[in-house]
Amino acid sequence: MFKIGHIEVKSKALLAPMAGVTGHPFRVLCKEQGAGLVYTEFVSANGIIRENQKTLDMMKFTESERPIGVQIFGETPEILAQSAKYIEDIVKPDLIDLNFGCPVPKVTKRGAGSAILKDLPLMDEVARAVVEAVSIPVTAKIRSGWNNGCIVAPVAAAALEAAGIKALTLHPRTTKQLYTGEADWSLIAETRKAISIPLIGNGDIKSAADAKRMIDETGCDAVMIGRRALGNPWIFREINDYLNTGILPEAVRLIDRVKLCHRHLYLESVAMGDYRATNYIKKHLSWYLKGFPGASDYRKRLYRQMEFAYMEGEISRIITELEKDPELANFAYREEGDLFPNVPGSKDNY
Ligand SMILES: Cc1cc2nc3c(=O)[nH]c(=O)nc-3n(C[C@H](O)[C@H](O)[C@H](O)COP(=O)(O)O)c2cc1C
Repeated sequence: MFKIGHIEVKSKALLAPMAGVTGHPFRVLCKEQGAGLVYTEFVSANGIIRENQKTLDMMKFTESERPIGVQIFGETPEILAQSAKYIEDIVKPDLIDLNFGCPVPKVTKRGAGSAILKDLPLMDEVARAVVEAVSIPVTAKIRSGWNNGCIVAPVAAAALEAAGIKALTLHPRTTKQLYTGEADWSLIAETRKAISIPLIGNGDIKSAADAKRMIDETGCDAVMIGRRALGNPWIFREINDYLNTGILPEAVRLIDRVKLCHRHLYLESVAMGDYRATNYIKKHLSWYLKGFPGASDYRKRLYRQMEFAYMEGEISRIITELEKDPELANFAYREEGDLFPNVPGSKDNY
């Protein structure tokens, strides 16, 4: 459907990198529902070259996730270049994405993430060093700029293209805005005119209709979905079907939602062991199990004992109960409400 360097991306709906959320299990589930491209959460370039085990674990993926990008952040061109080379040789993803968008103070006060948008010569140096260091495509993800007095997206985009970046994602909010206000999609349209590499629009997409509207209004090549994918990997199928046929697939039935909880818990337990999976999965379960009558009762049942066997057994019992109650089991709904501004449990509320 579109290409990033030599990589064919088969759908225009991409999964956003989300720290503390888009680990291997969730990426697999989004991919199965039609996400065209997935990314790891942002990974520290310093951590990679120190071979910090936790950092290296964050980059693990399976073949079924391809095409996949590993996203890195940092502020020192040589370290970013060295870490990119390590990733290309050892981790072997399809592409490397540079994080120039993180607004979290822990990152920006070092000059990394979106702070680099205040120093475009450094951004340029980083991009050129990384492009030079690897042979796989390098992409970048930016915000609008630091604040309203410093909107640099179109200029930064043109500089990144000249530096050899093969696709750009724009979340048109400033660093200072964090998640307040609205993403300014007109800046995506403006940036589209400044570059000829693929442009991925991101920010505030709540539905398949929004995804189509962003493409129509801005001319972006693809859309990236963050918060609307939480508890809702089906959004990718909805966008793909809607873009291709103008028709939405059936909304997801409650029983399929609960079955996915079961599968997700299983995938997390394989990825991180039963103990950690039980605690980690809680936020995902809360996202899957909301918005229908009795949702909070289900959540209370699942969290009564934070033990893997209990949680797994309780999900199975809910599935059995639903099988005996077709009306409830077939209750179907679409996620359409507001996006959470901050996501509990994400690293420093990215
Ligand atoms: C919990 C959470 C974690 C995030 N982590 C990252 C990250 O690691 N790297 C990144 O580039 N953006 C990160 N983001 C930003 C998203 O990729 C995306 O740009 C933002 O949420 C706007 O898209 P949305 O309106 O579809 O959610 C994160 C967002 C959230 C909500």
